[in-house]
Amino acid sequence: MTMPKITFISADGTAQTVDARTGDNVMQTALAQGIEGITAECGGAMACATCHAYVADDWADKVGPATGAEADMLDFAACEVTPSSRLSCQITITEELDGLVLRLPETQI
Ligand code: FES
Repeated sequence: MTMPKITFISADGTAQTVDARTGDNVMQTALAQGIEGITAECGGAMACATCHAYVADDWADKVGPATGAEADMLDFAACEVTPSSRLSCQITITEELDGLVLRLPETQI
């Protein structure tokens, strides 16, 4: 089984590619790999907006947009919310997401 790779691009343009585990979510992966720029105050309960990330254009179709309660919670994000905005704790990693690229906002709080 391959480990999907996920690339995080920080607000200053630094890209870091890390191994992820299928079944984890993107927020957990970022924390486990020491990615700065994901705060995740609520620990993945969709009760904060400090795990905000922007899905790269190439991946938007595959990942899909935020809907329902996630979209509502994104209203509390510290940085601009765009159609590619997601709460990274709500993106579950699958093998299909191998190569996923996300941009991180300048700040989460
Ligand atoms: Fe709080 Fe994702 S970690 S909403």
